[in-house]
Amino acid sequence: MAGIAAFGRLVGAGWRLARHDALLPREFEHFYPPALRTAGGFLRLFAGGAARRGRPGERLARALEGLGPVAIKLGQLLSTRGDIFGAEFAEDLSHLKDRLPPFPTALARAEIERELGKPVDAIFARFGEPVGAASLAQAHDAQMPDGRRVAVKVLRPGVEQRVEADSEALRLAAALVEDRVPLARRLEPRAFAATVIRATLLELDLRMEAAGADELREVMAADGYMQAPKVVWEAAGKRVLALEWAPGMPLSDPASLDQPGLDRKALANNVIRGFLAQAMDHGVFHADLHEGNLFVAAPDTLTAVDFGIIGRLGRAERRYLAEILWGFLQRDYMRVAQVHFDAGYVPAGQDVAAFAQALRAVGEPVFGRPVSEVSMGRLLTQLFEITALFEMRLQPQLVLLQKTQLTVEGVARRIDPEHDIWAASDPVVRRWIARELSPKARVERLVEEGLTALRRLAEPPAVVVTPAVKASARWPWFLAGAAVAAAAAWLTLLIS
Ligand SMILES: Nc1ncnc2c1ncn2[C@@H]1O[C@H](COP(=O)(O)OP(=O)(O)O)[C@@H](O)[C@H]1O
Ligand SMILES: [Mg+2]
Repeated sequence: MAGIAAFGRLVGAGWRLARHDALLPREFEHFYPPALRTAGGFLRLFAGGAARRGRPGERLARALEGLGPVAIKLGQLLSTRGDIFGAEFAEDLSHLKDRLPPFPTALARAEIERELGKPVDAIFARFGEPVGAASLAQAHDAQMPDGRRVAVKVLRPGVEQRVEADSEALRLAAALVEDRVPLARRLEPRAFAATVIRATLLELDLRMEAAGADELREVMAADGYMQAPKVVWEAAGKRVLALEWAPGMPLSDPASLDQPGLDRKALANNVIRGFLAQAMDHGVFHADLHEGNLFVAAPDTLTAVDFGIIGRLGRAERRYLAEILWGFLQRDYMRVAQVHFDAGYVPAGQDVAAFAQALRAVGEPVFGRPVSEVSMGRLLTQLFEITALFEMRLQPQLVLLQKTQLTVEGVARRIDPEHDIWAASDPVVRRWIARELSPKARVERLVEEGLTALRRLAEPPAVVVTPAVKASARWPWFLAGAAVAAAAAWLTLLIS
């Protein structure tokens, strides 16, 4: 029975994708075998007018937005694979919005009472209306008996069952793809689906988010560029999370930058420095720093909320970043290339000199610009695009860093259009390079490298990025969905 239900959900999802022409997009018709081309043409008869507009990544984002939390997580994770799907597609997909109408406050109160085992009025002095709602949870404006204003996040009623059912459908889709579409196999759809499901399940436990908020608050407080609200532990559980109210207004509100006494230059610097210090100095970073999750208050107080996605960089990744940035700054491309081989990121069989040549193609255009325009995010984006051609083993956490770096650079530029990213990052980057690349660090590193080499023998291989040359391989999901979509169309015809 479960299998049939999952198949039903999959057909529904396939149908929605087809309506947005995101199942067998017209733009890629020339890659399809004749049968799929016919199927695609047929499905497009059902694609709605407005739903058809935009680039394929935009259409897929819109289709996934309405398909629940698992589909949203799928979109978010697919958007980190620009190496496979192309940069534009990944970028378009990353604008996917997780916004839904709120559920009634009465239901939220019932959820809280069940979770915390006390009446809402015994926990809060005031419990107000929702201020934001997404596919997994919504946030309410409330107040503690001691007067502190808090934001209370409550999971959607029944969301666990929804996630379970959708996970089943996603597993089925992945199995179909893996078994029927040979081209997609090297992408390991089953493993990818498992990653999506695991990530969604982690976000379903608000105690994880509470712990993330607490850890990042400590880390941010060490540098003072950015802050995180305190967790109110007496009102925190698996399905409920109360955080102290962030001062000021979210940057997503256009009025936030018109607050009196705001120092825009200092704020933009804080965005960049705060993020870099977390990632480079502490190895843990807020990985969802878009405008809706950043509050600003005069003169330059920056508060991050929403700790659902947290990135982590081990020492090896941080050192790798220091080495390549240093190498690029020196324009020593051979050295940058060698770093990739030494770290084991690029298979030994590849040609170091050719790799160095490719790196020059990345570095010169970026560093040839006025220094105020140098973007670390852009450098990393282009670096990762090129490394795909050399079968680089791309660490997912480095991709998360690169995406977040692009996001914070965008945020900083919107706060202060004249913002100089290089000047802003200079103090953080300088001390980090000095620390990571100092002679003492090098000795420690030799010891550590020996240990890592040993450890690596026992570990499964990291994600292997394969060349992005075969464009036909970019659409495994769509190719696989073809069968499902055909079934959907056929069912519709039967019914009507
Ligand atoms: N500590 C807080 N202070 C003030 N507002 C908050 C706080 N936490 C969340 N919010 C508001 O609630 C919205 C949704 O919360 P968020 O944690 O971002 O959840 P989501 O995962 O749905 O984006 C935020 O965009 C923000 O407007
Ligand atoms: Mg948010």
